[in-house]
Amino acid sequence: MTIAELKQQIKLLKTQLASETISSGLRSKYLGKKGHFNQIAQVLTQIDPTERKQAGILLNQFKTFLENHIANQETSQPEAADWIDLTAPGIKPHVGHLHPISQAMDEITRIFERIGFTRVRYPEVDWDWYVFESLNMPKNHPARDEWETFFIDAPEDQEKGKMVLTTHTSNGQVREMERLDSQPPIRMINIARCYRRQQDATHTQMFHQFEGLVIDKGISLQHLKGTLDYFAQEFYGPGTKSRIRPFHFQFTEPSLEVDFSCHICGGTGQVVTEDGTKQKCKFCKSGWHEVGGAGMVHPNVLKAGGIDPEKYTGFAFGWGVERTYTLKEGMNIDDIRLIYSGDLRFLEQF
Ligand code: PHE
Repeated sequence: MTIAELKQQIKLLKTQLASETISSGLRSKYLGKKGHFNQIAQVLTQIDPTERKQAGILLNQFKTFLENHIANQETSQPEAADWIDLTAPGIKPHVGHLHPISQAMDEITRIFERIGFTRVRYPEVDWDWYVFESLNMPKNHPARDEWETFFIDAPEDQEKGKMVLTTHTSNGQVREMERLDSQPPIRMINIARCYRRQQDATHTQMFHQFEGLVIDKGISLQHLKGTLDYFAQEFYGPGTKSRIRPFHFQFTEPSLEVDFSCHICGGTGQVVTEDGTKQKCKFCKSGWHEVGGAGMVHPNVLKAGGIDPEKYTGFAFGWGVERTYTLKEGMNIDDIRLIYSGDLRFLEQF
């Protein structure tokens, strides 16, 4: 027998194998002791010694082919294919869930709705008037520099100025006063996307803020403090306290910065380790976390919204959803951009 003849035989067997309709018995028919493979393998002795090595290689390749082909058939058509085990557990479909930041926004909304706030949404591309000017920041006022603004390349409005990507949710303040025809009481919670020209491990260009605004007769700093404490307890758990420190914003007077006590160490700045020794709390270092800004609504802002500051007073607060949320989870995220990376290994943890 020649190599060409051997090749021809292998080819014939391959064609025959491809047309087999039942998978059971294939193994012994082709690979069994008296199977096709062994039969053609016997020809090896009849082959010219100079061609034997090549014939050996061809036969080996053919054997591997048969092994694979038959093994595939066996697994795709198991012999027990005519019965089904109805008690076997099913394959669990992969179920997604809301993004952690959406979950946080829902929770924040529910917490404020319980004390009579109404969730609203205002444009995330808005006029300079709502984002800055009505908030007591006249054109060219240096305070605007704190909000690293993206401007939209669009025609200016004669009264409302340029169009910008909202740098904070405070644009909702005067909009809410307008929505209610300048008629307090107002109790709004505005949660929206914000944008600033900054991007590094602790900042993303797009982030979320939530803004509270309460306006009525006789509203004082006490109401603000009570609301902050209420939120701290509801969101971070019983015992969490708020702390206010003097600050400056153009649109509030007085203005405050708000801290929450660390719920990991109970606001003490120290944790007791397993062996009873005290260590600095790695999460907060001082017992407190700075979260955002607040204050009593500036009379000029009330006037911009058509409300008489002689009759009404109000408070406002606003800060980032991302930071508020990562604090709650006790997370020290090295790179905050991970939240929006879409990486399932990260998202599936929440
Ligand atoms: N808008 C402010 C900021 O983005 C926060 C703030 C809101 C301060 C409301 C006071 C009152 O930093």
